[in-house]
Amino acid sequence: MTDPLAVFRRPPGPDGPVALGADAETLRSLEKLQRSYGNVVAVTTPNGRQAFFLNDPEDIRRILVTNHSKYIKGPGFERVKLLLGNGLIVSDGAAWRRSRTMVTPAFTRRNLHKLISMIVQCCEQKSQRWAKLAAAEEPVNITKEMADYALEVILRAIFGPDFDSKIIADGDNPFAFLSQDSSRDLKFVLRLRALRELVLSIIDERRHAGPVEHYDFLSMYMSAEDKSGEKYSDDELLNEVMTLIIAGFETSSGILNWAWYLIARHPTVDAKLFKEARQQVPDADLVNSQSIAELKYLHQVLDETMRLYPPVWLFSRHAIRDDTLADYDIPAGTDIYISPYVLQHTEQYWPDPEKFDPDRFAAPEAREKKDRRQAAHIPFSLGPRRCIGEYLAFLEMKVHLGLLLQQFQMTTTTDMQPELDIGVNLRTKEDIYLRPTLRTLNR
Ligand code: HEM
Repeated sequence: MTDPLAVFRRPPGPDGPVALGADAETLRSLEKLQRSYGNVVAVTTPNGRQAFFLNDPEDIRRILVTNHSKYIKGPGFERVKLLLGNGLIVSDGAAWRRSRTMVTPAFTRRNLHKLISMIVQCCEQKSQRWAKLAAAEEPVNITKEMADYALEVILRAIFGPDFDSKIIADGDNPFAFLSQDSSRDLKFVLRLRALRELVLSIIDERRHAGPVEHYDFLSMYMSAEDKSGEKYSDDELLNEVMTLIIAGFETSSGILNWAWYLIARHPTVDAKLFKEARQQVPDADLVNSQSIAELKYLHQVLDETMRLYPPVWLFSRHAIRDDTLADYDIPAGTDIYISPYVLQHTEQYWPDPEKFDPDRFAAPEAREKKDRRQAAHIPFSLGPRRCIGEYLAFLEMKVHLGLLLQQFQMTTTTDMQPELDIGVNLRTKEDIYLRPTLRTLNR
């Protein structure tokens, strides 16, 4: 219990209100607050909520890991709830724990490795398309291509053979608007809700058809049981499936978009990646869990891409009990804001923070700074609410880049730096176009 006579140790911060939301203005405010007041800042929002902005790795670890039970998801997640229902990302307490335990077996590495051949096939389709564009000397809209790729991977991972037989059976993909429409307005919410009918019909058919032999997320989720042997209700199942679709494609597609752009801008990185990929996965048949794990430099490139452009650039928590930091008190009721973007661009933790330098994640010198670095690199968050899809994200990103960058060397079509579009996710304001050249392979 808090001592009633103790003086409340409030962090420094501005006197006037500060609006905090999923927008560019908020990012500018947070950067400014951090420069002016340091790594713990107290603000009052225009509607009178007390909020702390934390930018110290140890404080962040305390909230997300050590003392996570004192917090629930904070402001901003209600909007996600409107979109996705009470699925894994937004639920809290016992409902979240029950669901996370139920879905965890679907995400074991052993199970996810069963998706590798499907991922390779999705990459081969891209390779054929891009070869035609390269031959015609036309650029690739990499932003769109990566959104389509990541959407197809997650839909096939969820629906397995039903993707071909029930979702795209008539030629059109009813989910395609997800990768084309970046607004998250009411119209988008309604279109997403309409897809629930389709998903429900697939669930119904599967129920009548009896247990399936193959592995996909839907079959795993449908057979999952909680401690008392209960399965998901239809509504819960739908919430979890919609959550997987949205959480599983926007983030990975955003990183692939940035990664291709950065590789195109850094020929020495491209050359190193090419050499590694030729050694580890010279042929699509050689893509397996071991060879993917050996794409170590590619892993560094992705880590560095996510440092610079974390798709989830801001998230929040809400204190349900009093807590303390080393120098300050957090009263119950305080909202906590954490920005992977600001943290990962802070000079104190990342010298020359704007520079793209995958060697920051190289061994052995980086290992010396491992603890500090890991804590100041949180694109997947930390603790029990850490992203459950991290391993799958790396699989689909590494297989795609490992295979495709062996065939195509990309160059930028303009010298312009892509501008950031800051919403719930971090995107590029305009689509990025890259020019593919077929590599001449000297095997
Ligand atoms: C580069 C790719 C990805 C990034 C950067 C990313 C980032 C994140 C972050 C930061 C969180 C936690 C938010 C918080 O703590 O409040 C999260 C949670 C989550 N992510 Fe991801 N994600 C990625 C890919 C995926 C994929 C591929 C899937 C699904 C297959 C996925 C499914 C989820 C789910 C279900 C949660 C909620 C977990 C829970 O609360 O138990 N994510 N993700």
